[in-house]
Amino acid sequence: MLSVHSILVMGSNGGIGLKLVWQLAGESNGPECVFATCWAPEGPQAHVKVVVCKKGIALEAAGILLSSQETGDNIKMLNARSVLVTGSNRGIGLELVRQLVGQSKKPEWIFATCRDPKGPRAQDLKNLADKHQSVKIIPMDTNDPSSVKAAAAQVTEKLQGAGLNLLINNAGIVKPGCLESETAEDMSEVYKTNVIGPMIVSQAFLPLLRKASQESPQKGMSCSKAAIVNMSSEAGSITNLLVFDLGHVLGYRCSKAALNMLTRCQSRGWAKDEILCIALHPGIVKTDMIQVDQGQAPLTVDDSVQAMLKTLGHLSEKDSGTFLNWEGETLPW
Ligand SMILES: NC(=O)c1ccc[n+]([C@@H]2O[C@H](COP(=O)([O-])OP(=O)(O)OC[C@H]3O[C@@H](n4cnc5c(N)ncnc54)[C@H](OP(=O)(O)O)[C@@H]3O)[C@@H](O)[C@H]2O)c1
Repeated sequence: MLSVHSILVMGSNGGIGLKLVWQLAGESNGPECVFATCWAPEGPQAHVKVVVCKKGIALEAAGILLSSQETGDNIKMLNARSVLVTGSNRGIGLELVRQLVGQSKKPEWIFATCRDPKGPRAQDLKNLADKHQSVKIIPMDTNDPSSVKAAAAQVTEKLQGAGLNLLINNAGIVKPGCLESETAEDMSEVYKTNVIGPMIVSQAFLPLLRKASQESPQKGMSCSKAAIVNMSSEAGSITNLLVFDLGHVLGYRCSKAALNMLTRCQSRGWAKDEILCIALHPGIVKTDMIQVDQGQAPLTVDDSVQAMLKTLGHLSEKDSGTFLNWEGETLPW
């Protein structure tokens, strides 16, 4: 039998890790101490709140749940001081904000932007902001240049001279157009939101991203230093045409292919500023957006966001200008 005094299980908030912790803690000849580590001990995925060691002493989560960062630097975590997420009132955007505040090393400022902060669709975000001081709700319609400009001015004021480390261009829309029925109006609207929006938002926040890059003592590029993450989709991959038979969504595919080109251009143009730029596919995730039967969406929003935040923590200059999926695997353009 395994006979050790203490054992540390990484990634212990779910699945095999969680089972290992419970079995080791319940073993009569088991270890004296079981250290259960996870990325975000206070996050919704951390089910291990109390772990019982061999002598039956209940160890409180605070004492026993160390973040992976504290257990060794071989695992990198996102460590941005400030993050801005567009379209953060629901879906992937809201979950990004929720998990960012749950991180053990949470950002000091999380700018959660949405187009209608007073409306009923922003209630979940408002509840989150009421509980966490670091969450600042900023109104921003990414289709409206004056709204984007006003948001950039508000964020600049709140940062009090500091830069913005990470901009996540998440807001996006889809319209159900197929090859035969797509309309010029729908295609223009989708292009405006999914391509022009990220372009003008990136331009407006560029001075703050440059500032963050310049003031950082870190060498090279990272999402903790200065980065733009454009939420793309494998549906826009010209090579893969993901789930084409389930839905043409023509305007959406074309817009995400264009967003990928925007990302490549941003990465080339702003390399001298050491701003990392990537196009990120979150997977097929169960949200309001998904057009296919929800049962065909393999990922929950929790799982997708957890994996994406982990991926963002690992990126460096070699990744700038790439198209990645939620787990950090490279996708073909
Ligand atoms: N879900 C998936 O399977 C999937 C797959 C691949 C890529 N993506 C991408 O991931 C991103 C998030 O998708 P999701 O699934 O979370 O979609 P969602 O649940 O439909 O949420 C979309 C978000 O974007 C916001 N938005 C739309 N237009 C906006 C505008 N002009 N200004 C500001 N906010 C705007 C929405 O705000 P309102 O509430 O005001 O409408 C909402 O907060 C999108 O870019 C999407 O293309 C998603």
